[in-house]
Amino acid sequence: MCGIIGYIGREQAAPVMLDGLKRLEYRGYDSSGMAVVGDDGINLCKAEGKIKKLVEKTNGGKNLVGVCGIGHTRWATHGAPSDVNSHPHLSCDGRFAIVHNGIIENHAELRAKLTEQGYTFKSETDSEVVAHLLQKLYDGDMKKALVELMKELKGSYAIGIVFSGTPDRLYAVRKDNPLVIGLGTGENYIASDVAAALAKTHEFVLLGDCEIAEATADGVKYYNANGHQIKKKPYTVDWDIARAEKGGYPHFMLKEIYDQPKALTDTVRPRVVGTEIDLDGITFSRAYLDSLSGIDIVGCGSAYHAGIVGKHFIEKHCRIRVNCTLASEYIYSNPITDEKRLTIIISQSGETADTLAALRLAKKLGSRTMAIVNVVHSAIAREADDVLYTHAGPEIAVATTKGYTTQVAALYLVGLKLACIRGTIEKERYEALLSGLSELHNKAAEQLKDHYVNNIKTYAEAFSKQHCVFFIGRGADYAASLEGALKLKEISYVHAEAYAAGELKHGTISLIEEGTLTLALVTQKELFAKTESNVRAVSSRNGTVLAVASRENSKIKSCVDGLVFIPECDDDLSPVLTAIVLQIFAYYIALQRGCDIDQPRNLAKSVTVE
Ligand code: F6R
Repeated sequence: MCGIIGYIGREQAAPVMLDGLKRLEYRGYDSSGMAVVGDDGINLCKAEGKIKKLVEKTNGGKNLVGVCGIGHTRWATHGAPSDVNSHPHLSCDGRFAIVHNGIIENHAELRAKLTEQGYTFKSETDSEVVAHLLQKLYDGDMKKALVELMKELKGSYAIGIVFSGTPDRLYAVRKDNPLVIGLGTGENYIASDVAAALAKTHEFVLLGDCEIAEATADGVKYYNANGHQIKKKPYTVDWDIARAEKGGYPHFMLKEIYDQPKALTDTVRPRVVGTEIDLDGITFSRAYLDSLSGIDIVGCGSAYHAGIVGKHFIEKHCRIRVNCTLASEYIYSNPITDEKRLTIIISQSGETADTLAALRLAKKLGSRTMAIVNVVHSAIAREADDVLYTHAGPEIAVATTKGYTTQVAALYLVGLKLACIRGTIEKERYEALLSGLSELHNKAAEQLKDHYVNNIKTYAEAFSKQHCVFFIGRGADYAASLEGALKLKEISYVHAEAYAAGELKHGTISLIEEGTLTLALVTQKELFAKTESNVRAVSSRNGTVLAVASRENSKIKSCVDGLVFIPECDDDLSPVLTAIVLQIFAYYIALQRGCDIDQPRNLAKSVTVE
């Protein structure tokens, strides 16, 4: 949600920052801007729209001369997308420029005070107060001004700053919003996420809450909230830059769909040691698990949907009651939790504000917390008692694909491990599921062969003009249908609803009329007869049904208009394979409808505001 990049070095800053901004565009893409410190002070350029507008306006960055700068790509919260509301914002005297991610909660109060004192505001943003405050607080000592700045600001922020008085220095402060320092040779970076600087360095330092970074071309100094110098340890990000690039695919989403066999392998394989599961050393005793009154799984969007798949799996095999709750609801629901509950927090980015708030609340109330996270060193990963990383690699498309399927795979590992410790699963069943899980990547690879993809593509093209699509299924299929509906609506803007198949007749079936498309997920053998009768209820009202089924349920053919088989797999593991079909389906519908697949309207990756 909004992206920050800053550069100090010996090259021209603007072209380097444009490259970084392009890599960050998935975080927000309604406007962008850069400020560079030149010989004549700070030069600024902002542009409403995609980064390519900024590229055009600055002639590929050539028009902004200087080796020290900050850039930003915006996802509007306060003030509509426009040139004036986009970042960087300048102080009235033009000597300070700032970029900001997050929300300044006391911006109205600060704005009123500053206006009274003669400062004039140009934008409607909450961020502009930061530039004026800096002008007010600066008395020749930048570090002191930044310490004072943090005392004034309430809310969450990652802020990058340049000052015309120190053209060889780049500054950053942060609280509750991610910001990393990229360490280069003869150059250094600030960035809201590692993807922005990965082409230049793999060495990063995570700026802590209320810490200050002061970067020159040759080094970075860090200070705590009191202005005392502190030492910070760099970490290495071993993500290959190629994994953050399109690699010849027309969209990141398609590339990430095709990344799934590798992502599933990387998530599952290192944890399977013979017939044992090693959750990276995370241990649960039998006594602890038996003492639990239940497990809470918390996440947002697709992460929540992964949690619902996990709930089915864990309840079935571990016989522990699992509640799955949306993070934004959890935090305000006065949750009943304590040391007798285990809270599993799911997040691809590890920075989602609602999910982070839920984690903090669960911890405060005494629950043990375990995070399933993709981004290494993200806030959720750092703050949870235990973390199990998914190894999906960088996910750039706003709509998650490999992020989701690896979360589901990680939950299967957790479920099997807990079931094994509690002794609630037969040895043969455990081994069959473990072997099925270890084989999932091969099944995913089968689905990505041309003939398989083309079959789904043909259906997507045939149905691309639908205004409304229902997704139905029972049990694990219902859990999978939630993700299928979200995928379709977010990238193709087709209204899509997921329903437990048996629930349709309790109201929603009134919406089925001739031609209404229903995607029926029919992978659960035990539930076949019931799901089939729900499917017949739709087709007998002249609805059109496309089924996604297991071979064992091929009898569904007699009552549907189209059919896609998933590769043979254990019914309990089918949601991963169903998800891949539904991702491909959504992708080609969106493509057919001419949508901006990687950057759908109104959305942003990594939602760092509540
Ligand atoms: C949908 C999607 C979102 C995210 C949600 C949580 O395709 O990507 O629904 O799943 O915003 O994000 P993370 O997992 O980063 O916490």
